[in-house]
Amino acid sequence: KKRVVSGVQPTGSVHLGNYLGAIKNWISLQDSYETLFFIVDLHAITLPYEAPDLAKSTRSTAALYLACGVDTSKASVFVQSHVRAHVELMWLLSSATPLGWLNRMIQFKEKSRKAGDENVGVALLTYPVLMASDILLYQSDLVPVGEDQKQHLELTRELAERINYLYGGRKWKKLGGRKGSIFKVPEALIPPTGARVMSLTDGLSKMSKSAPSDLSRINLLDPKDVIANKIKRCKTDSFPGLEFDNPERPECSNLLSIYQLVTGKTKEEVALECQNMSWGSFKLILTDALVDHLHPIQVQYQEITSDPGYLDSVLSEGAKKASEIADTTLNNVYQAMGFLQRQ
Ligand code: TYM
Repeated sequence: KKRVVSGVQPTGSVHLGNYLGAIKNWISLQDSYETLFFIVDLHAITLPYEAPDLAKSTRSTAALYLACGVDTSKASVFVQSHVRAHVELMWLLSSATPLGWLNRMIQFKEKSRKAGDENVGVALLTYPVLMASDILLYQSDLVPVGEDQKQHLELTRELAERINYLYGGRKWKKLGGRKGSIFKVPEALIPPTGARVMSLTDGLSKMSKSAPSDLSRINLLDPKDVIANKIKRCKTDSFPGLEFDNPERPECSNLLSIYQLVTGKTKEEVALECQNMSWGSFKLILTDALVDHLHPIQVQYQEITSDPGYLDSVLSEGAKKASEIADTTLNNVYQAMGFLQRQ
């Protein structure tokens, strides 16, 4: 079976962008692929964070994976820091990562510009190397993510090819390595709709966990009245009717896409249904659709979190399975890079 991996950072609360861009698409892959989904707690410390909250958000993110439909009889769910190989491989990879590649990362540029050089830990710069490690350790074929991770995936691919070139091939054979490459070169799987869910208060910026106003995003655990209020207050425009893909109406396109995804309708159906609608009527049906879609997830979440022992056992089982695969790759890489093997 081909392999799929992906993860979400346990910072803030999981929002509709994370769900529609990533988690929702994981679910449909579980049957035909071997899937591993992790909570990337090591990535969550690359910006200032509250230590007392980290463990709690890690558990809550894991519980949300399950509540959204990740099926632990098929997928392995685990916490990134529980599988030590992630950090270890990252060090090996970082030796072959040109600094220029990291300096060019858009997310790094944006995040470091906001904080200022003196306030940014080097982990923010090397963040994509850890992400490459998360993916390459499992010899992954596909990585379902939102649009904003595309550049990181491209770097992962280039890094895999670079290591394969530097340490694979003839040298690797001389060292007794098995034929073939050290790393599989993975591909990003970015959904046609939902890959870039925009803010509710500004159709030109991405919905994000770090935006200061909570009114800009729908969190998966928002209760009904909160969702209704956020949709009521979200940014609209004064054009007549509703339509997709009008560059002058980014908010309109965004809200219609959200409606499309949570109802499971096609774009054409939504375009037809909403073409003559007023914002007032659309906001009501959008609120209902969101509440209907998120309600079962919230019920599941309550059930899962009411039994902490269950989640613990899922995460421990997941880490065990993941470690077996990860350790095999890690040992191979040590060998290919010429390290003396422990006897
Ligand atoms: P993170 O935690 O920022 O986001 C998790 C997933 O949600 C997607 N996403 C969005 N999709 C659509 N619209 C949005 N507004 C939106 N905001 C976020 C992201 O693209 C992502 O798929 N570095 C990653 C986590 C990571 C990872 C990995 C992912 C670490 N290692 C290995 C895949 C494989 C991140 O910070 O995602």
